[in-house]
Amino acid sequence: MKNFSAYQIFEQDGKSAGRFVNLTLDDLDPGEVVIQTHYSSVNYKDTLAATGAGKVIRRFPCVGGIDVSGVVASSSDTRFKVGDEVLVTGYDMGVAHDGGYAEYVRVPAGWVVPLPQGLTLFDVMALGTAGFTAALSIHRLEQNDLRPGNGKVIVTGATGGVASLAILMLAQLGYHVVALTGKDSEHDYLKSLGASEILSRKDVQMGTRPMEKALWAGALDSVGGDTLAWLTRTMQQNGVIASFGNAGGVELHTTVLPFILRGVRLIGVDSAATAMPLRLQIWQRLATDLRPGQLAKVAQIVPFLELPQVFPLMLQGKLRGRRVVEIKPAG
Ligand SMILES: NC(=O)c1ccc[n+]([C@@H]2O[C@H](COP(=O)([O-])OP(=O)(O)OC[C@H]3O[C@@H](n4cnc5c(N)ncnc54)[C@H](OP(=O)(O)O)[C@@H]3O)[C@@H](O)[C@H]2O)c1
Repeated sequence: MKNFSAYQIFEQDGKSAGRFVNLTLDDLDPGEVVIQTHYSSVNYKDTLAATGAGKVIRRFPCVGGIDVSGVVASSSDTRFKVGDEVLVTGYDMGVAHDGGYAEYVRVPAGWVVPLPQGLTLFDVMALGTAGFTAALSIHRLEQNDLRPGNGKVIVTGATGGVASLAILMLAQLGYHVVALTGKDSEHDYLKSLGASEILSRKDVQMGTRPMEKALWAGALDSVGGDTLAWLTRTMQQNGVIASFGNAGGVELHTTVLPFILRGVRLIGVDSAATAMPLRLQIWQRLATDLRPGQLAKVAQIVPFLELPQVFPLMLQGKLRGRRVVEIKPAG
């Protein structure tokens, strides 16, 4: 059986460490569909997994990579045939099932999404879990009656992968987007994505009252912790928050007052476990009304061998936008 390259994460002396290894298909977790990988991507969760900064891996060793796009190499499920272009994001990929950082990926057929018409194998990894999460968050906010006329929408951790894509999508939909960032050097980048206003993290006065001046109709939060607490205290009447991230902390200290006096809604967003019918609906939107017109501005290609260099930079919050990992099909 042919060998191929994979970036596998091990546990060594109680710590996670990744390295390139040679595997065969027999080494991979079981599944009905084998995909020849074209691209994967780097999400915050991938960085937590590869560095051990977060305990997200549930099974060692595990090939990393929560996202993959490629071409079906074999399938024992009638829904897929050799040559089909497909993608997978989330489920147990890269944390409890061998993931996308490999020339071949083997997954259950129930996880596989056909490449949406109008998107390329590159596009769907420029989006990846990040773009899916941005779109799912916007979808949930809209289901909770958010509309462009309601007021301003704030996006936190604005230069990050999910947030950059969310800004592109919201701006295209006609929302007045306020970008909250820790990177003063990236204000022009955020404006170019469509943000109408930029807030510097260091300039935000969070206050201490249970409710502060009402500022936002909607919020998409990458950060958690004090930032999310501040959002709950500054939402307008009937404002809606999509909470998907914890880049700044996992705790949430607030009071019930914004919820019972302003009708604020706090919506949790979990992309990994999204059921297939909604998953397909969101990918359909990503290929149509939510398709970002300027994906190239957000996504940068990383050759497979340079993947390990990305993790420390992402952990330190030094990157902007998305990294797409190019994994050339094995010859
Ligand atoms: N729930 C889900 O299904 C789901 C899916 C995808 C991602 N996530 C989570 O969403 C978050 C963002 O993911 P991502 O892939 O977009 O990561 P990312 O590209 O690393 O973006 C995170 C951004 O957060 C800001 N940030 C970093 N450290 C911070 C700190 N200590 N305090 C405040 N802000 C900080 C930075 O933006 P600025 O410098 O511009 O402020 C950074 O670029 C992560 O917590 C990730 O785990 C959740």
